[in-house]
Amino acid sequence: MRRKLVVGNWKMNGDLVRNRELLRTLSARVPDDVDCAVCVPFPYLAQAREHLSGASIALGAQDVCEFAEGAYTGEVSAAMLADFGCRYTIVGHSERRSMFGDDSTRVGRKALAAMRAGLVPILCVGESLEEHSAGRTEAVLRGQLDAVAEIVGASSLSRLVIAYEPVWAIGTGQAASPAQVQGVLSFVRGWLADRTSEAGDVRILYGGSVKPESAGPLFGLPDSDGGLIGAASLIAAQFLGICEAASVATQDNVRQFEGLK
Ligand code: PGA
Repeated sequence: MRRKLVVGNWKMNGDLVRNRELLRTLSARVPDDVDCAVCVPFPYLAQAREHLSGASIALGAQDVCEFAEGAYTGEVSAAMLADFGCRYTIVGHSERRSMFGDDSTRVGRKALAAMRAGLVPILCVGESLEEHSAGRTEAVLRGQLDAVAEIVGASSLSRLVIAYEPVWAIGTGQAASPAQVQGVLSFVRGWLADRTSEAGDVRILYGGSVKPESAGPLFGLPDSDGGLIGAASLIAAQFLGICEAASVATQDNVRQFEGLK
């Protein structure tokens, strides 16, 4: 059984004082049958690492440079992230794709750079509202996924976490419906199964306006392995509520599994 994974994406938010409060509260209270992680802004990696030591919350970054080392002013390498204890890094978030020019080829290179340093890339894919309305969701995702597969190679796909984040659901308060999400997650699982025998081991997350109330139905879906959480990850009670929903979904899965035996 795949363990559920709940990842907080703090985006460009926080300061030393607020981070300390948030990290302290989370460290003491995350459930232990769920994998949790927080992806913090680069300057706060050291602070987060210190507060999370001994806690069962992993550390992640929100982006990584596609190059390993050298004259790339302003960039941060995967080795540096590993040096600060990161386990994960997000690559291809829609905000980076739309505002900072990250195309799918660069996203693939970033995923490869992360893997080479021993990190787990959380690869974000998702369609815009226009693409969604035109019924092009699967075509868009196929394009984004194919470009990455070409660069990392089919044999490395099982080392990714994939996050389906419809752009129209990010930060809008309007999460996609469980039925919509399951349709897309199962498409992604099928895409993986066409390329690797380990498709069943890959964790596929949903992201986009997940709140404690919506998390349960979204995490209980057959192909759902948790969530990538933006705004709600900045509020301890909300993030913990979402982690708790993942824990409940895990217990339901275990019961179903036992029932099948
Ligand atoms: P949101 O962000 O939860 O605030 O919609 C999700 C994300 O961008 O990863």
